[in-house]
Amino acid sequence: MGTLNGSKTMTKLKDRVVIITGASGKLGTALSRHFHKAGASLVLAARGEKRLRRLENSLGKERVLAIPTDGTDVKAVRKLLKIAVAKFGRVDCVVMCTGTWKQISLASNDTLAAERLDEDHYAFAKTAFVTGRVAFKFLQRRRGVVGLIAHISSHAAVRPRLAGNDTYGPTKAEASHYMAILNAEKKRLRIKNVQVTDLRPATINLPGMGLSSEQQRKAVQPSTIAEWIARHIGKKRVAPFKHFETKEGFAL
Ligand SMILES: NC(=O)c1ccc[n+]([C@@H]2O[C@H](COP(=O)([O-])OP(=O)(O)OC[C@H]3O[C@@H](n4cnc5c(N)ncnc54)[C@H](OP(=O)(O)O)[C@@H]3O)[C@@H](O)[C@H]2O)c1
Repeated sequence: MGTLNGSKTMTKLKDRVVIITGASGKLGTALSRHFHKAGASLVLAARGEKRLRRLENSLGKERVLAIPTDGTDVKAVRKLLKIAVAKFGRVDCVVMCTGTWKQISLASNDTLAAERLDEDHYAFAKTAFVTGRVAFKFLQRRRGVVGLIAHISSHAAVRPRLAGNDTYGPTKAEASHYMAILNAEKKRLRIKNVQVTDLRPATINLPGMGLSSEQQRKAVQPSTIAEWIARHIGKKRVAPFKHFETKEGFAL
């Protein structure tokens, strides 16, 4: 059994194949490291090749393949899934982890806010729509494997009272809503071999977030999210959404 943060044990992922979009980002990198440590084979995706290759190299290249991919590009996502199967023989899980939070509030410049809405829509909603839908159909056709689609949303998708989320909140909500649609379609069409879950973390303890040591301790740990996903890979029933809360007293 592998160890997680030196203490807890992590679900073994030997022979499991996980695709991560937004792999080169802060959370994507943390999740990639956890899954790799647990024994999974990884296909790392993001648009920029340099950071992706850096992560691939740092993981030692064993059980790792980096494929530069734009998660909004239908053909590119289809190719990503095909390459994963060609290289590792199967796909067990697709983790969607794209885009970056930027603060926009009523006090922000309106033109800037409108531009940011387009950017957030592209990075969050369109990636979830295209990658989610293409992966769903692909996994549906794979017999003998229960595939998991894990979309990293945010608590801001369902909590309008959180400040500074004028563009992040609505575009995350759109992405989360599409996961609910995929779940509804799954039920309607009685599809049993694809599971879809919308993960809604509060602030995560990641490098480069500028959190104090107290905030780091009380924030959501990436290992908690990694372990939750790992535990649900291959399961025939997975909750359609899941919140990950910070510890009491956490304040930004
Ligand atoms: N950080 C937190 O506390 C927190 C809390 C809750 C939820 N989340 C969610 O977790 C996810 C990752 O956050 P983060 O803090 O790790 O952000 P990040 O460090 O900025 O990483 C974003 C990643 O997304 C990739 N990306 C952006 N657009 C893409 C596209 N069209 N296709 C493929 N990849 C794309 C980026 O690489 P390229 O630009 O090279 O494509 C990068 O790898 C986001 O969805 C965020 O909302 C984060």
